[in-house]
Amino acid sequence: MLILGIESSCDETSCAVVKDGRELISNVVATQIAEHRLYGGVVPEIASRRHIENIVPVTEKALSDAGITLNEVDAVAVTYAPGLIGALLAGVNFAKGLCYAADKRLIPVHHLRGHIASLYISNPDLKPPFVAFAVSGGHSNLILVKDYTSFQVLGHAVDDAAGEAFDKVARTLGLPYPGGPEISKIAKDGDPSKYVLPVPHVAGEFDVSFSGLKTAVLNIVNNANMKGIEINKADIAAAFEQRVTDILSKRLIKAAREYGLPATVCGGVSVNGELQRKCTELAEKNHIQLYTPKKFLCGDNGAMIAAAGYYEYQAGSRAGLDLNAFATKEIDA
Ligand code: KG4
Ligand code: ZN
Repeated sequence: MLILGIESSCDETSCAVVKDGRELISNVVATQIAEHRLYGGVVPEIASRRHIENIVPVTEKALSDAGITLNEVDAVAVTYAPGLIGALLAGVNFAKGLCYAADKRLIPVHHLRGHIASLYISNPDLKPPFVAFAVSGGHSNLILVKDYTSFQVLGHAVDDAAGEAFDKVARTLGLPYPGGPEISKIAKDGDPSKYVLPVPHVAGEFDVSFSGLKTAVLNIVNNANMKGIEINKADIAAAFEQRVTDILSKRLIKAAREYGLPATVCGGVSVNGELQRKCTELAEKNHIQLYTPKKFLCGDNGAMIAAAGYYEYQAGSRAGLDLNAFATKEIDA
């Protein structure tokens, strides 16, 4: 079964063709990062406009790369929540138009279900149940994946999401958007022990908190500026990356142990080398199987939406042409 997947929830316009939820046939991503970088973050209005401009050529390329026409697609899956509302609507309305014109079924896909499905394309042997840490710019959700379309949120970020914290700390250090890759790059030359960042405390066993770390970095930078002291950005970046990846990897492996299930990470932050290294190390130590997405499937893409769409379709999910988009929605709603 061939599913066309469309993603436009933030600053990537993407379309892909995936066979039977597992086999990647084509995946085209048009990123708007360069433009949003000028403003230090995603400008929602610009994002919506670029999605509208990019979605037709991106979809045409995804179909031509796959060597098929729209008629050969079995259904169209689209991200309808959560995300920037204008950005989501660009994808949802386009998908509705495609379905109306070509008489195809429309499948609504939750963005985080998409990130989780990126693991199915990357790991042919992975099957639910497993524990997934979906870590992106907007979310840090520790999720029990009971089945392909059945989820339970075990914990979440009580304040900033992990990616958001990376982006904000990067901005404090004068690094461009998106901050995650920039912090990660300079942290390689830094000594994480030079700056001592606090260990955040949260009530929930599987919840995480990052805004205290962000404030700690801000205080270090402000204090140094007032005293005219030079800060070492690489050392701060390394300390911050160490702390965040420590928290994420420990929570994930703790949950996997408690539930006796394999552990997975997904989402934009899951590409982080330190995070993957720590998860691997902890998983091995605890005899837990660890699965990660292929690097190019960590960030937002249409392939993960097509893969999730396949399983949603199998479970009977269909949307009418009255489908709406939602800026917020829980994965298990
Ligand atoms: O999943 P994603 O592409 O979009 C959302 O759904 O939010 O995630 C984007 C986030 C950004 O906050 C970005 O800074 C972060 O992923 N990110 C990273 C790395 N690469 C991207 N964070 C840490 N280390 C990285 N190497
Ligand atoms: Zn995402």
